[in-house]
Amino acid sequence: MNVLIVYYSLYGHIYRMAEAVQEGAGSVVGADVRIRRVPETLPEEVLKKMGALEVQKSMAHVPVCQMEELAAADAVIFGAPTRFGNMCGQMRQFLDATGGLWAKGALVGKVGSVFTSSGTQHGGQESTLLTFHVTLLHHGMVIVGLPYAFAGQTRIDEITGGSPYGASTIAGGDGKRMPSENELAAARFQGRHVAEIATKLFRKA
Ligand SMILES: Cc1cc2nc3c(=O)[nH]c(=O)nc-3n(C[C@H](O)[C@H](O)[C@H](O)COP(=O)(O)O)c2cc1C
Repeated sequence: MNVLIVYYSLYGHIYRMAEAVQEGAGSVVGADVRIRRVPETLPEEVLKKMGALEVQKSMAHVPVCQMEELAAADAVIFGAPTRFGNMCGQMRQFLDATGGLWAKGALVGKVGSVFTSSGTQHGGQESTLLTFHVTLLHHGMVIVGLPYAFAGQTRIDEITGGSPYGASTIAGGDGKRMPSENELAAARFQGRHVAEIATKLFRKA
């Protein structure tokens, strides 16, 4: 059973979450889990001005996702930061290139799931997750979120991401806050949950 994690991360928050998702999915027996990034669309000059060049270089070893990998996966877990309450343009551009897969129905019946990150606590995590789901539904994917079985999403003793729609982290206005233990636990839970469901759906008799 193959789980593909496809992400974009400018400053590393989504990448850290993706690693936790990978840990969770990888804890399911028989799961083959891979992390892939989507192509960058910003010129190096702009990345430099945004203070993101070093982080981008540190992720350069992660292979860029190929369309065939999406088609070959049993489950795809997408990670994208919020941009004005929606997914980032890099992920949108990647998804907009999946028309060929859509035409063949190549993703129909596969498990799809999403996690996100935002600068502020109420800056659009839920809208990003839910609007992302729309694209996955057009592809015929079976949407899996983060159930309340992950009790960490009910806590109010600390500021935390995480909703029934998917794991999330809050980077802070200055981007200095990295995913908390609770947010990483949510990402691990979601990874495991997706892999368990995909195992039930795709287990070979
Ligand atoms: C153009 C742009 C738009 C953004 N829009 C939002 C937003 O609507 N709400 C919010 O809370 N954060 C917003 N942010 C902050 C990003 O979501 C944040 O930097 C990101 O989640 C960090 O994750 P990353 O390090 O994986 O890229 C925006 C950032 C940029 C550059």
